[in-house]
Formats: sequence, C-alpha cells, structure tokens
Amino acid sequence: MTASDRSPFLYVVVCAAGVATDVGTLITAAQERGWEVGVIATPLAMNGFFDTEAVRAQTGRPLRSAWRRPGEPRPFPAPDALVVAPATFNTVNKWAAGMADTLALGTLCEVAGLGVPMAVLPCVADALAAHPAYRESVARLRGMGVRFADPYGGHAGEDGGRPRFGWERALDLLEDRP
Ligand SMILES: Cc1cc2nc3c(=O)[nH]c(=O)nc-3n(C[C@H](O)[C@H](O)[C@H](O)COP(=O)(O)O)c2cc1C
Repeated sequence: MTASDRSPFLYVVVCAAGVATDVGTLITAAQERGWEVGVIATPLAMNGFFDTEAVRAQTGRPLRSAWRRPGEPRPFPAPDALVVAPATFNTVNKWAAGMADTLALGTLCEVAGLGVPMAVLPCVADALAAHPAYRESVARLRGMGVRFADPYGGHAGEDGGRPRFGWERALDLLEDRP
C-alpha cells in the first residue's frame, strides 16, 4: 500500500491531565475529518486518566505508551500530522528541552524533525504557565513550527462550570497554513 492509498495518519499524544478523560471527542472529530488515528499516551496518562479500552476500540489500533522491543515492527505508519492533547506543563517543557525518555517524548522530538504539521492543546493552570521555563518552552516549540491553541487553565466560571476544552481546535490548527 502506498501513502496515497490510505487515509492520512494522525498521531495523538495524550498527557496526564484531567481533561484527557474526554480524548474520545478528539478521536471522533479527527476520524470525521478523514484522519486515521493512532494514540500514544505518556506513562502517567495510562494510569487512569482516560478509558484505554475505549480508545483501542475507537481507533482499531494498539494504544502505545511503552517502547517497542528491538526487532518488533513499528505498530503505526509514519505520521502525516501530530496533535498533543491535552498537553501538560511537564511534557511541553521536556519536549522543548529535547528529552526522550518515554515513547511519547521520543515521538514528539522525532516527529518535530519530519516537517509534518504539529498542533498542541495545552492544559496548564495559569500559575504554572507563568513559570519562565514554560514560557521559554512554548517560544522554542513555536520557533520549531509547532502550532499552539490558546491557553486553557480549566478554571471554573461563576456558575461553577468549567469551560469546554476545544478539542476540534487541534484539527483546525493542522489545517492552517503555516
Ligand atoms: C487528577 C490530575 C489532574 C492533573 N491535571 C493536570 C493538568 O491539567 N495540567 C498539567 O499540566 N498537569 C496536570 N496534572 C499533573 C500531571 O499529571 C503531572 O505533572 C505529570 O507529571 C504529567 O506527566 P506527563 O506530562 O508525562 O503526562 C494532573 C495530575 C492529576 C493527578
């Protein structure tokens, strides 16, 4: 099969933030826009932040978090684009610093060198986002061509409800011209 015979393949990297529980919303929206989706979660995100079985069923693919063994085939095709959603303070900083000690981080660092579109939906509280390291990380990643959605701190409004996490924005960012 050649690349043109298949749907474009989207890597979705999921971090350990509370909103990850709704990542199925992103997968559905991506599939409706013609993407085939493969999910790569950070090790902490696998620890109860979302329904892993539901994601496996929804994508029809293995859910990746650990490195494959030497000699094992790559379970996903090469990506045509990548989304990090939700993106934590921790992962944004480690990615910008070039750390690759988990499959999720190694994938982020490597895909950044492929020249495919990359979009980030940060989910970082304002107090953390004010840290100078975070601001520098975002600037560095933007300089690498990574597209960031508006900040989302998840603060409850006056009615006590939290604003909606705009999952579809990640897909819009991929479609934007650089
Ligand atoms: C219930 C819960 C919700 C969390 N939500 C967030 C969040 O919205 N944003 C964030 O940056 N960290 C959040 N954290 C902290 C991260 O899980 C923590 O920094 C972790 O190291 C992130 O790992 P990862 O980036 O490898 O996924 C949360 C932790 C817990 C226990």
